[in-house]
Amino acid sequence: TCQVHFESSNWKSLSIKRLTDSRLHGSTGLRSGSQANFFPPLEDAMLPSGSFNNRMALITGGGTGLGRAMTATLSQLGAQCIIASRKLDVLQRTAEEISSQTGNKVHAVQCDVRDPQAVSQCVDQIEALTGLPDVIINNAAGNFVCPSERLSPNAWKTITDIVLNGTAFVTLELGKRLIQNQKGASFLAITTIYAESGSGFVVPSASAKAGVEALYKSLAAEWGRYGHRFNIIQPGPIRTKGAFSRLDPTGAFEKAMIDRIPTGRLGTPAEIANLAAYVSSNYASWMSGAVIRFDGGEYVSLAGEFNELRSVTPDQWKLLEAMIRKTKGS
Ligand SMILES: NC(=O)c1ccc[n+]([C@@H]2O[C@H](COP(=O)([O-])OP(=O)(O)OC[C@H]3O[C@@H](n4cnc5c(N)ncnc54)[C@H](OP(=O)(O)O)[C@@H]3O)[C@@H](O)[C@H]2O)c1
Repeated sequence: TCQVHFESSNWKSLSIKRLTDSRLHGSTGLRSGSQANFFPPLEDAMLPSGSFNNRMALITGGGTGLGRAMTATLSQLGAQCIIASRKLDVLQRTAEEISSQTGNKVHAVQCDVRDPQAVSQCVDQIEALTGLPDVIINNAAGNFVCPSERLSPNAWKTITDIVLNGTAFVTLELGKRLIQNQKGASFLAITTIYAESGSGFVVPSASAKAGVEALYKSLAAEWGRYGHRFNIIQPGPIRTKGAFSRLDPTGAFEKAMIDRIPTGRLGTPAEIANLAAYVSSNYASWMSGAVIRFDGGEYVSLAGEFNELRSVTPDQWKLLEAMIRKTKGS
């Protein structure tokens, strides 16, 4: 948030100071997040029921957070889902919960995506369970905030191994087998808005997610001829235990985050699940190589140089306008 101080009626005295003080929002007439009322989330499944009948979907990291929400939506729409990550007990619990609600089978397969051999064995298991999937969502990731001067080589390797190498191992292993079997598929990668801009304090994640985007855009061009589509969703902040406990452990950044999001709220897992379902469905069969930012406007809000002027009140604008009108020449 920012506050504009008028110390005299001189343009040069306009100073913008970052504050975490919520009193400011009273003065602008916009309480923090109040505009969220204009943008209520619709959370029921958007596509017609049965849109994924007879389709198999693999969701990495599908046991928790956003992956779990995507699995629930695809399962509700008729898909047979396979969720894969390291913690089998978590996966099994999620699989049972979703499948008991939707009536469609959800399979849990243990897999550490950092290990290419484990990925290959996981795909063997998937082939035996359901056959090769029609929908692949690379959602598994790791991340934490850390000043880059404190990063160890091991920290760098852990994050880039999960995010970039893991996505590549899963994508290449499945891609090769699908090509051999002459079967097309939709691949979706979940990245982040800072994959494009980069971001301090999450440098291994930013670097690896940028790599994932390059991988998916490249394969969109190369593997269309085999019937494969590759798309990318860049989510803005959506509260999940996994992400928020490592990115905002005290909860202090959440309010600042909401203040700079033009739609005045965080996203919800069900909203991104609907988008992921659409992108992965045949309704989007002409969509490939797309990078979809889904962030309530956060990215453009952070990027625009003058956006902090949102805090200027109508009275302050009258003063500013008068000062600007009085200015003659350069
Ligand atoms: N939530 C947000 O605000 C946000 C914003 C931007 C982007 N994203 C992206 O959204 C995706 C989902 O994040 P989330 O918020 O839902 O967090 P999350 O619940 O922590 O999900 C991450 C998942 O990745 C799995 N995983 C981690 N390491 C793995 C490995 N080596 N092998 C296989 N699976 C592994 C985890 O399962 P196991 O522990 O069982 O392995 C977990 O289910 C991530 O790609 C994240 O970067 C989230």
